[in-house]
Amino acid sequence: MSKLLEINDLQTHFHTRDGVAKAVDGVTFSLDRGEILGLVGESGSGKSVTGFSILGLVDPPGRIAGGRIVFDGDDLVAGGEPMLRGLRGKRIAMIFQDPMMTLNPVLRIDTQMVETVLAHERVPRSEALARARAALVQVGISAPDERLRSYPHQFSGGMRQRVAIAIALLHKPDLIIADEPTTALDVTIQAQILSEVQSLCAQSGTALIWITHDLAVVSGLADRLAVMYAGRIIEEGPTASVIANPRHPYTRGLIDSVPKGKQHGRMLSQIKGMTPSLLHLPEGCKFAPRCPRADAACRSEPALTPTGDDRSIRCHHPHEDAERVHAP
Ligand SMILES: Nc1ncnc2c1ncn2[C@@H]1O[C@H](COP(=O)(O)OP(=O)(O)OP(=O)(O)O)[C@@H](O)[C@H]1O
Ligand SMILES: [Mg+2]
Repeated sequence: MSKLLEINDLQTHFHTRDGVAKAVDGVTFSLDRGEILGLVGESGSGKSVTGFSILGLVDPPGRIAGGRIVFDGDDLVAGGEPMLRGLRGKRIAMIFQDPMMTLNPVLRIDTQMVETVLAHERVPRSEALARARAALVQVGISAPDERLRSYPHQFSGGMRQRVAIAIALLHKPDLIIADEPTTALDVTIQAQILSEVQSLCAQSGTALIWITHDLAVVSGLADRLAVMYAGRIIEEGPTASVIANPRHPYTRGLIDSVPKGKQHGRMLSQIKGMTPSLLHLPEGCKFAPRCPRADAACRSEPALTPTGDDRSIRCHHPHEDAERVHAP
């Protein structure tokens, strides 16, 4: 069966006074039905712009300058706004970091949820309301009837995000793009929401792109990981394999900077240097100035290359898997 989503050489550029910021510069990945992809990377690496590009939510001065985004056989870049309007909220839903991007502060939850159902389906209002109620129950909201009659400000931050997730689930979408939806919440609620979204997606066969800068958050959730740096994917593959044997020096740096058990009193390693400005990227490998393994070869930019074991890497000097196994 063909992939649910195939992104090929996506280019999303922002035309600013100081120059063209290539926020997404040659991103390629694909997603199966029901699969969960963790899209990780430092702030400014292009994760959100990638997510927004899929849904056609990039506003001027940004625009998709090239590449293909094929969703269930349809090219969304070529199809543009008319095609996206039919898909957004129905077959592809987005959960934002701030649930108020989804919720309208002056409308009751029942009004908002019923309108969302009716935007894409001709069903009686009573049925739309029943669907809204069921969706709230699904995301673990108790007393749903009372909650339906409430306004967003009457909810806690965690509850509001649950409502936004319930809205995303209303049409049983094929794909949900979640952009750091739990970062503003405390750790216990984060963990709860994460495992609930994971089981909801498994039940309904929904594929999920979970965007985060926090590798620890996605490593227990995602089937696959794609690591972004300076608008590019630099490593991609099954989560367990990437975490056990990161091959790109940047991925390795990210993993080594995550606190693990039994490390009390030990310094966490850090990736040296700063994220480069998109307007002043180095020639060749964009990570080279921060990379302990960089040499003359890195003056030319490596391509994202499949390694034959369901993984891909963009690096001239990747780590060997054996190095990790024998590491202390
Ligand atoms: N409206 C805009 N105008 C100009 N440049 C922009 C705009 N939005 C994004 N960019 C550029 O795109 C880059 C990538 O932004 P993006 O929001 O995708 O990063 P991110 O990986 O989601 O980071 P974060 O973890 O901070 O959310 C930014 O560093 C910035 O240079
Ligand atoms: Mg972002």
